Amino acid sequence: MKAILIDEPGDEDCMRLGEADAPALEPGALRIANHAAGVNRADLMQRRGLYPPPPGASPLLGLECAGEVVEVAHGVSGFAPGDRVMALLPGGGYAEEVVVDAGSVLPLPPALSFEEGAGLMETLLTVFLNVFQLGQLPEGGSVLVHGGGSGIGTTTIDLVKRAGGRVIATAGSDEKCRRCRELGADAVANYREQDWVEVVREATSGRGVDVVLDSIGAAYLKQNLDCLAVDGALVLIGLMGGAKSEISLATLLARRLRVIGSTLRTRTAAQKAGIVRGFVERFGADLEAGRIRPVLDRVFALGEAPEAHRTLQASRHFGKVVLRVRG
Ligand SMILES: NC(=O)c1ccc[n+]([C@@H]2O[C@H](COP(=O)([O-])OP(=O)(O)OC[C@H]3O[C@@H](n4cnc5c(N)ncnc54)[C@H](OP(=O)(O)O)[C@@H]3O)[C@@H](O)[C@H]2O)c1
Repeated sequence: MKAILIDEPGDEDCMRLGEADAPALEPGALRIANHAAGVNRADLMQRRGLYPPPPGASPLLGLECAGEVVEVAHGVSGFAPGDRVMALLPGGGYAEEVVVDAGSVLPLPPALSFEEGAGLMETLLTVFLNVFQLGQLPEGGSVLVHGGGSGIGTTTIDLVKRAGGRVIATAGSDEKCRRCRELGADAVANYREQDWVEVVREATSGRGVDVVLDSIGAAYLKQNLDCLAVDGALVLIGLMGGAKSEISLATLLARRLRVIGSTLRTRTAAQKAGIVRGFVERFGADLEAGRIRPVLDRVFALGEAPEAHRTLQASRHFGKVVLRVRG
């Protein structure tokens, strides 16, 4: 099968289109003829050798895809060859064939193209896990998300608004802020020009938000805690702004704050299946009806993976970047 190969970790041009062995079907799994793969920030780190795949996962890049089922392992129910599906992957999405645990797969809603489906699973499940399950966003609660124009940011705005909550988003340009507002964000802050802690204070009448979904880490730790309401949760999903910082624990104690570190990729197949079920319970009707769809920024051909990575690296995108694998 065709796949994106990496001989030596490095910059974007270390990736090349080549031939790889198709993965073997495993118990409990499906084989998918992959039509499109989502590109995620984590792929850029893996490419540079900084984010090794979890044990047993494909060494190829790619955390999500959409395609057609071509083979179903003995005993797996609910799927048949020919089904259009989308999948969360521990790796292996930048390739023509993918084998994945059936619990990480959902039917592709009829209204969605393969390219749209390919850009959904990683962000939907990350936001659902971290804002709703771990962050325990209360009914009508509020969320601060950094990188409002990212795959994670645009999905956070969508899901939180669907759930009846309020969202404040930060982004690096006025244009991205405008688009976050257009998507439904209640307040936005251009973090290059504005004091976003002040924007949060104003937008919440001084109360603070219930959940901060943070991918910046150390550089924002103190301000993130300052933005939280009593009993609020800071859920840390990335470290784009560093890993080491110092805070006063008194802040946590006094306002009963929670700080939660979280990764999706390293969870077991059973845990991922549980997250998928929880998501479907809460948002399945919107998904099936085609009301939940990604903000698609650009679709590149599989062989253009270097250009796709450059786009993400420079944050030139708004929403999701996807690779077309077939067709
Ligand atoms: N732990 C997990 O399970 C998990 C799962 C999925 C994703 N993630 C993490 O979530 C983050 C987003 O992922 P993605 O794939 O959606 O990324 P992405 O589309 O590449 O977006 C990253 C965004 O961060 C913004 N950004 C950079 N520095 C910022 C700053 N100082 N303040 C606010 N925004 C800033 C960039 O845009 P502008 O600067 O132009 O606004 C860019 O839109 C990544 O760190 C990723 O590793 C974690």
